[in-house]
Amino acid sequence: MRTQVCIIGGGPAGLFLAHVLHAAGIESIVIERQTKNHVLSRIRAGVLEAGTVDLLRQYGLAGRMDRDGMPKDGTRIFWEGKEDFWIDVIRWTGKRMMVWGQTQITEDLYAARERDGGEMIFEVENVALHDLDGAPSVTFERHGESQRIDCDFIAGCDGFHGPSRKAIPAEIRREYERVYPFGWLGIMVEKPPMKEIAYAYHSEGFAMASRRNPMLSRYYVQVPSTDKVEDWSDDRFWEALHRRLPEHAHGEIETGPSIEKSIAPLRSFVAEPMRWGKLFLAGDAAHIVPQTGAKGLNLAFSDVFYLSRALITHFRENSDRYLDSYSQMALRRVWAAENISWRMTKLLHVFPGEDPFDQKIRQNDFDLLAGSEDIQRAFAYEYIGLPFED
Ligand code: FAD
Ligand code: PHB
Repeated sequence: MRTQVCIIGGGPAGLFLAHVLHAAGIESIVIERQTKNHVLSRIRAGVLEAGTVDLLRQYGLAGRMDRDGMPKDGTRIFWEGKEDFWIDVIRWTGKRMMVWGQTQITEDLYAARERDGGEMIFEVENVALHDLDGAPSVTFERHGESQRIDCDFIAGCDGFHGPSRKAIPAEIRREYERVYPFGWLGIMVEKPPMKEIAYAYHSEGFAMASRRNPMLSRYYVQVPSTDKVEDWSDDRFWEALHRRLPEHAHGEIETGPSIEKSIAPLRSFVAEPMRWGKLFLAGDAAHIVPQTGAKGLNLAFSDVFYLSRALITHFRENSDRYLDSYSQMALRRVWAAENISWRMTKLLHVFPGEDPFDQKIRQNDFDLLAGSEDIQRAFAYEYIGLPFED
């Protein structure tokens, strides 16, 4: 097979890249390790930055989001023993976020790809990348048969565990990492959500109330990395959530049987550079943020914004100026997202072994944020996502 861009990974980064390239008349083939049903059953992110919302609208992917998504104007913060407050993101930035699930975005991306007749190959195994500084190709096996795709460029959109990042030689690749000793236990419930998305700090651990639509709530509690989903009955989950959220908010929590329950680890990770020869990394293949800042999916879209522009400029204008600056431009937003995600994680979680000094500093960080509109404005600037660079 031959194509212009071989896209490894059919998650949001890979599918959105295929969609934007198709709109510009550039051919691609997407190869994916899982089945389509498996990809569409994963429940992950939920909060979209204003820039991501704009990109979905620009590329004709916003119909359902604009009808069923829930605009988000700010963020509620609960703190044990303190009055809760509201960070008015729209007031400080003039921009509005949206609560709309990654699952639905991925469904819309697959529907668009199928409508466009774009090629997707599922259930690929033993994917390998070749000749990254010459004439690149990707080989794989499918149902026992070996196949090969020759291409001009490879987009590595295969998430944290995929082979693309590892194809950058170890002596070139630099990796920066923090692994946290806790994860988020998340449940989905078919009940109306709390009034607003809320992040909560409690001495027992972080908790969060989120949503997917007016009849679907998403809640999280911090749990030790060693915990298993089986350790957490629904009752145990609801008790922990109630303890960690202030009593005056309990009336807003509608409990019910969970329809999904999973534990997601928290990690900060960046691999640099995001380009090696004809290989370009995008999304979780290059970086991971802890969920606290709600940045993971947004960064995948941000990378694709820069990468699609670079590839389109190459094919249309025969200019590599954006391909050459891709890694540097994408990494500026990546590190800004790493920064706020790490600070929010530190602020809102209980770390095993922390001492009274750590607790005093955390308390002071909260007091500064609660007491100063200047600091809330700075938070809102980062939370909404940095502007894209020209
Ligand atoms: P992915 O969604 O990981 O997609 C990569 C794709 O590549 C997958 O479909 C995978 O099957 C495929 N693949 C892997 N290996 C190969 C291979 N060898 N060959 C071909 N295909 C391959 N973000 C938030 O903002 N909020 C959240 O609450 C949140 N929760 C999360 C929970 C979990 C468990 C995880 C893993 C992530 C979560 N994230 C969250 C992060 C967010 O979902 C990701 O940042 C986003 O999915 C990144 O999209 P992506 O396309 O880069 O990677
Ligand atoms: C979610 O709704 O899943 C969600 C929202 C905000 C976050 C993380 C996850 O910061």
